[in-house]
Amino acid sequence: MGKIILTGDRPTGRLHVGHYVGSLRRRVELQNSGEFEKIFIMIADAQALTDNADNPEKVRQNIIEVALDYLSVGLDPSKSTLFIQSMIPELTELTFYYMNLVTVSRLQRNPTVKNEIQMRNFEASIPVGFFCYPISQASDITAFKATTVPVGEDQLPMLEQCKEIVRKFNSVYGETLVEPDILLPDNKACLRLPGTDGKAKMSKSLGNCIYLSDKPDEVKKRVMSMYTDPEHLNITDPGHLEGNTVFTYLDAFSKPEHFPEFLPDYANLDELKEHYQRGGLGDVKVKKFLNNVLEAELAPIRARRAEYEKDIAYVYEILKKGSDAAREVAAETLSDVKNAMKINYFDDKALIEEHIKKYSGK
Ligand code: TRP
Repeated sequence: MGKIILTGDRPTGRLHVGHYVGSLRRRVELQNSGEFEKIFIMIADAQALTDNADNPEKVRQNIIEVALDYLSVGLDPSKSTLFIQSMIPELTELTFYYMNLVTVSRLQRNPTVKNEIQMRNFEASIPVGFFCYPISQASDITAFKATTVPVGEDQLPMLEQCKEIVRKFNSVYGETLVEPDILLPDNKACLRLPGTDGKAKMSKSLGNCIYLSDKPDEVKKRVMSMYTDPEHLNITDPGHLEGNTVFTYLDAFSKPEHFPEFLPDYANLDELKEHYQRGGLGDVKVKKFLNNVLEAELAPIRARRAEYEKDIAYVYEILKKGSDAAREVAAETLSDVKNAMKINYFDDKALIEEHIKKYSGK
């Protein structure tokens, strides 16, 4: 069996550089590596609704944004199947059967769910759908028999929960589902890229994100006002790297070839860091370099987005085709699942025979 990727994002906003280094960039590499038999990239609108039930319009408006972001980073619909979660009703059906294999206390212990309940002030009244989204996520993954799930570190508990469901299902009903592996970013800076203000969480409301679709002047503004080292007041002061957002972003984005191109006084990032720590290197110079590094990465993304923006009908067509193809695969898995659970009554000749016999008096 070949390796299969399934991953996705909630469409609650445009995607930013955190999504990019945390997952999108890797997906494109994996897509182009030729190592994978199939790649499914899902816009998780149904999951987004689990904590946006009162705002379906937000989700509806952001599906196209996420699709454009996907295409603009280089996900290629001829190599990867891009689809919309809610267009695959089989996923919901799988979730309903998996629910019987998971306890309430297990869901309560899921660290990501715990954290999100706090963040959303759901403590007093948690929507059942939200509470169960880890189970629905297990359906997303298993429906496509995914072997590999490239996601950010925050999704680790989801993968653990999914593996447990797979093991439980297979032990109760027989070997049916595939246990997936998580694929985390290999660069530490990419695991959780901070906001431009140095805060751990990137969010629209904090205004500390750089979006993939931001214009060059917006990116520059964010970079030039980035949080650095509060003790580095004069150029001659020694600077610190720990918690210094500019250097974290350089760790995530800079490549060896950026030095001869944009900052030939330094051979590599280590030399730049050394000088900064020694003192005598100003923040503005480093920020300008970071801006060039980011632009080198973002300019082609922006250009590709502009092309797709000219043909939105085509982008919807891509999603429709992808959803149709994804649905076929999920339907096969659902059929495997129902066969394993023996809830395939009309296809089960032996069962019907048995009952005919039982009532024919023989
Ligand atoms: N939970 C993911 C997020 O927050 C989105 C998602 C839904 C997902 N289903 C998935 C990711 C399955 C990987 C695999 O963005």
